[in-house]
Amino acid sequence: MTHHISLTDIPDLNGRYDLYGAVHKGLRKAGCDLLCRLGSTDFDNADECEAVLGDLRTYLMLAASHVVHEDDNIHTVLQGRGVSTGTVDDQHDEHREAFADLEKLAVCVSRAIPIARRAAGRKLYLAFAAYIAEDLAHMHEEETQTAPMLWQHFSDADLAAVEMRIVSSMSPEKNMAFMRIMIPAMNPAERAALLGAMRKGAPPEVFEAVMDFAVRPSLPPKAVDDLVDRLKLAA
Ligand SMILES: [Fe+2]
Repeated sequence: MTHHISLTDIPDLNGRYDLYGAVHKGLRKAGCDLLCRLGSTDFDNADECEAVLGDLRTYLMLAASHVVHEDDNIHTVLQGRGVSTGTVDDQHDEHREAFADLEKLAVCVSRAIPIARRAAGRKLYLAFAAYIAEDLAHMHEEETQTAPMLWQHFSDADLAAVEMRIVSSMSPEKNMAFMRIMIPAMNPAERAALLGAMRKGAPPEVFEAVMDFAVRPSLPPKAVDDLVDRLKLAA
């Protein structure tokens, strides 16, 4: 990826629908956390090694389905309005190549004889760091260049419908996996808004499942209390 990123040309939300905000925060936090873990993993320890590779594969699965969600639901509607999505389409293709390369490097780590595992782990760590660098730049492109196109061509209700299509295309398990990375990455007000909307719009058992399987395990107790207080106030 060679094109220039502007650090100052960042559009204001101006109250518009933030289609990318929460999921990108989740992917950034999960990706950066995983990068730090890959850097500190004891690749001589087989259990530690398998655990981090398992988390890497979960992350790659979520990142790959996120790219498909955007291709199928965001790029298509923009193209329908005559907006070119060439740059972000190309970046998604590069991501798909990166996912395949990272999987190959993960296989190298698991198959390496113990004495070679450290070297294979270092390659995986460096490759993952480079992927995260590209993904951060790509998400910046989407939130500063693609989002204004969406605001220009669609209403907030249209964009909410796009998000609803994405959410309803996923299994409950996959939705929960996205919730698990998004909730700890959001700020308290965003978290309360998401959970508040879910409590209003989803069946009670779905809301409770998200609280039990995504909120409580991913947040410190103080942040859970804060969320519960905000939800009470909003009730
Ligand atoms: Fe994207």
